[in-house]
Amino acid sequence: MKLPFTTFIRDQYRRIPEVKSFGTDLTGKVVIVTGANVGLGYETAKHLAAMNPAKLILACRTAATGEKAAADIKRDTGCSTVVCWQLDISDAASVKAFVERFEREGGGKLDILLENAGVTGFSFKRNASGWEQIVGTNHIGTAHLALRMLPFLLKAPKPRLVIVASEVHYWTSDAEQADTDGLLEKLNDEKQEGKFYSTGNRYLVSKLLNVLFVRALASHIPAGTSLTVNSVNPGLCSSSLLREANPAIVLMTRILARTTEVGSRMFVHAAVAPELDGVTGEFLSNCTITEPSDFVISPKGASAGKRLWNDTLRVLSETDAEVPRIVDTCLK
Ligand SMILES: NC(=O)c1ccc[n+]([C@@H]2O[C@H](COP(=O)([O-])OP(=O)(O)OC[C@H]3O[C@@H](n4cnc5c(N)ncnc54)[C@H](OP(=O)(O)O)[C@@H]3O)[C@@H](O)[C@H]2O)c1
Repeated sequence: MKLPFTTFIRDQYRRIPEVKSFGTDLTGKVVIVTGANVGLGYETAKHLAAMNPAKLILACRTAATGEKAAADIKRDTGCSTVVCWQLDISDAASVKAFVERFEREGGGKLDILLENAGVTGFSFKRNASGWEQIVGTNHIGTAHLALRMLPFLLKAPKPRLVIVASEVHYWTSDAEQADTDGLLEKLNDEKQEGKFYSTGNRYLVSKLLNVLFVRALASHIPAGTSLTVNSVNPGLCSSSLLREANPAIVLMTRILARTTEVGSRMFVHAAVAPELDGVTGEFLSNCTITEPSDFVISPKGASAGKRLWNDTLRVLSETDAEVPRIVDTCLK
């Protein structure tokens, strides 16, 4: 489908169900939320903490802000099982260290992995792994963690993997350009020309990649396993994400944005709502299964998803030999 600006504005004023209408008991469940020290991730973790998880790991880039978030959530919810573990999702070494720690201390299985950590930006910068930081964080690092955590997710009875995308994927300029081999390297080349590769389009592209990757991953999960994987959109929310945005976007945010608490309800819904049992490969928005962009559901979108899958596995396998091993043993 398309998302006209008028529909986007109408959606911003929709009533979003309160967590108590779909919340559940997380006794015995192990949950990870990335980027949980502020914004949508923090509010999501706070809701999940109130559901009595066996362990709730806030996976945060900076230990100090993560520890403070964990302490605040403990105080506000009474949940004593909240911990903060350091994770820079854009750094392959940090992802590996996080997974190794989970192997030692996680308790063997993972019930919910909510990948929320993300960045935007308006200039070309590289991260610690040498990738352009928006695509490197929002897609490559996110895919890396998802794949590395698959063996633990597959040990849980009804595991869910949720990747935070966005409605901005509907507005990606020249989305058809995503249907190319070597897309990740092309996005990492500052000299690429055209709207698709422009810095203004970069965040939108990264969120399109989230939607395509989730659909591709879901298609590789063998029948008979109960793992579901979906992408989710919180709508426009007032957070620190757009701190470098131009004044027009800042003004639009002031007028239209939801609070991060309201936005987080959609993440919690994707992570626990019973009505989503067995739902996989979908894009969720306003707590509803929603058709993604016309490009995503087109033949070129399907082709882009397959190429992205192959490209992502190839680049991750170059830095982490566990990735191809996990793909061979856990996926079809
Ligand atoms: N706000 C919106 O309107 C909106 C709309 C659609 C989708 N989203 C998506 O929602 C998610 C959360 O955004 P938000 O609005 O809550 O933004 P935010 O307040 O800026 O929070 C982003 C979180 O991601 C973390 N993060 C960034 N890079 C990281 C890295 N390399 N490793 C680990 N953590 C990292 C940040 O940690 P630090 O505090 O250390 O930077 C922070 O905890 C993002 O994926 C965003 O794309 C937001």
